Amino acid sequence: MDLGLKGKNAAVTGSSQGIGYAIAMALAEEGCNVALSARGKQRLEQAVAAIAARNVKSIGVVCDLSSSAGCKKFVDEAAAGLGGIDILVNNVGGMVPGTVDSISEEQWSQFLNTSLLSYVWATRYAIPHLKKSKAGRILNVSGISGTQLLPGALTTTLANAGIIGLSKQMAAALAADGITVNNICPGLTNTESWGPRAEAMAKVRNTTADEVRKGIAAQTMLGRWAEPREIGAVAAFLVSERNAYMTGTTVEVCGGLTKYI
Ligand SMILES: NC(=O)c1ccc[n+]([C@@H]2O[C@H](COP(=O)([O-])OP(=O)(O)OC[C@H]3O[C@@H](n4cnc5c(N)ncnc54)[C@H](OP(=O)(O)O)[C@@H]3O)[C@@H](O)[C@H]2O)c1
Repeated sequence: MDLGLKGKNAAVTGSSQGIGYAIAMALAEEGCNVALSARGKQRLEQAVAAIAARNVKSIGVVCDLSSSAGCKKFVDEAAAGLGGIDILVNNVGGMVPGTVDSISEEQWSQFLNTSLLSYVWATRYAIPHLKKSKAGRILNVSGISGTQLLPGALTTTLANAGIIGLSKQMAAALAADGITVNNICPGLTNTESWGPRAEAMAKVRNTTADEVRKGIAAQTMLGRWAEPREIGAVAAFLVSERNAYMTGTTVEVCGGLTKYI
């Protein structure tokens, strides 16, 4: 199926590695131009080069998305560098493992600014560009801890539940402009950040990182973790023109981890 992504322009937040990078690569493989963003310059440059090798326009914006100003810089430079934005993928985020007692106020503030409020700010700045597109798309990367209990995932539960609510609100607000807004909820995905994260979750659960990893795999119907490219493939469809009648919806790509009917 031709997804109709050739020649479109996408901006992906937090995309020098992990799920954001996999989504950017999946879009590039469909002929979509992509703007990437991260704080770290070196890894970002490598990611931009790998995307450009797919014969699409690729730009990287070094920015800190934990502030409104950082989000504005990314969206402005993405639009200027690509010549407009048809697709915004809000992806940036990361878990701070811990409990209500152990996570400091400063950690909460940094976490929520990056993993929840950046979705609001990037959306705000991207809307004028998306309105000029024939098929504007916003895809918010959420997570299953926003809809079901994942012990030790207190921080992401707050962010992900908020993202899901934000998407429903924005889907209603932007429908008249022909812009769709959906969530993709990855299950536990084998990204670089899971090394230290599994260690930290193990401490909260009083077990080992290996046991955390095996325990998560065992809870899925497919018996394994997701690979980032498996999330990217579904994301590419969700932001495509072929996906025209889905908005305000959450799509779980979790190998059967959630069990509700
Ligand atoms: N991995 C999973 O199992 C999983 C499951 C469900 C949902 N998710 C969600 O998927 C998203 C991506 O997760 P991931 O595991 O792929 O993350 P990751 O491997 O930690 O990658 C995060 C990316 O975002 C960038 N980034 C982080 N903070 C930033 C900031 N303040 N400003 C700009 N860029 C920033 C990082 O680059 P720099 O560090 O250089 O800035 C990196 O490119 C998150 O929202 C996460 O909650 C992940």
